Amino acid sequence: MNHFEYRDGVLCCEGVRLSDIAEAVGTPVYVYSTATLERHYDVFKSAFAPRDVLVAFAVKANANIAVLATLARKGAGADTVSAGEIERALRAGVPASRIIFSGVGKTAGELAFAVKAGVHQINVESIAELETLSQCAATLGARPAIAIRVNPDVGAGGHDKISTGRSDAKFGVSVDQALALYTRAHADPNLAAKGLAVHIGSQIRQLDPLEAAFRTLRGMAEQLRAQGISVERLDLGGGLGVPYFHEPDPPTPTAYAAMVNRVFDGLDIALAFEPGRMIAGNAGVLLSRVIRVQERAERPILVLDAGMNDLIRPAIYDAYHDIKPLSQAQSAPLQKYDVVGPICETGDTFTRNRALPPLGPGDLVAFMTAGAYGAVMASTYNARALVPEVLVAGDKYEIVRRRWTLEDQLALEHKPSWLSAP
Ligand code: LLP
Repeated sequence: MNHFEYRDGVLCCEGVRLSDIAEAVGTPVYVYSTATLERHYDVFKSAFAPRDVLVAFAVKANANIAVLATLARKGAGADTVSAGEIERALRAGVPASRIIFSGVGKTAGELAFAVKAGVHQINVESIAELETLSQCAATLGARPAIAIRVNPDVGAGGHDKISTGRSDAKFGVSVDQALALYTRAHADPNLAAKGLAVHIGSQIRQLDPLEAAFRTLRGMAEQLRAQGISVERLDLGGGLGVPYFHEPDPPTPTAYAAMVNRVFDGLDIALAFEPGRMIAGNAGVLLSRVIRVQERAERPILVLDAGMNDLIRPAIYDAYHDIKPLSQAQSAPLQKYDVVGPICETGDTFTRNRALPPLGPGDLVAFMTAGAYGAVMASTYNARALVPEVLVAGDKYEIVRRRWTLEDQLALEHKPSWLSAP
């Protein structure tokens, strides 16, 4: 469920007409719903009750400080993959004690930053990383809590490029390596070995691969405990899919949690999750205006003012986003369009042959389910302004990232002395 609905034929976010935001802020613009963010967090968290689990929102899905602060106020943690994301989470009010630091390419500097910040857990993905972290901890006189990220060799996810749990993916270490690595970490006086972590992919629409990965983790925890090695925590990652309207619905958080509770029944262990898309996906839309309609023999092309630089998912994952007009046309017959942006690449095509109500120059549309991996993946390609973001709460809204203009971009650049006029 989300809070984007037509009221009297006008698409609204909570109590605000999206067309009002488009007029005031301009397009393209991302708009997020506080109520939907909060609802998704609550639904996910409460699905596990009475088990108290750590829900660490995957910052990579939506890193806006206002979104993070909204979730922090609910008690969410943060799953981070760079010093920048840790810093964002901290500034948004997520306590370090709820921050998980994951990722294959943490630099020594980033590891030191995380150790100094006192994060809840660092998910280690290789022997080499474990060694760097151990040295870093010794230098800092700290004893960071770590988990070993396991690659369970389970394929899952909505697209090849977002599947992370197969043995040929770059993430984590094999089960055997992970057991050896954990044993080694446990014996390391500089490290507090706490648990195991797994994340097998994103936009996962079946529970089976997740269940297989979780069973592997349980087996490993039991095996280690049988050897007298303590394992206090399991981090089960993110990955639960969201409805994109053209695909069969993914499992509900309730069904997901029931599976988790079944797998870990009778095991006394703390559980953490790293959902990103499930929390933020349907909590955001991208608003865009039709620049013009280009007539063609086959079917017309709708040229929008949003491009692949603003929403890249269709270009790189062939992702589907529902497109809704901001004003609901009264019983007009649908018309087939190709929908494109202004970027000079054929890849800047959001969709082909999509049935939409008739649209013309100046009309406003919303790309639905754009709250996750939307604004965070935006760029200034083609010297376009970086897309702004707006957060709605009830009948209020505020710009939470202003449009980053060409002047802002140029302020970071420099014409070298030998090219400047004397
Ligand atoms: N934890 C880890 C370690 C991850 O790598 C990810 C996502 C998550 C949690 C959150 O997964 P979620 O619950 O959002 O599925 N840009 C792609 C998605 C990339 C996901 C990368 N990892 C897209 O637009 O579909």
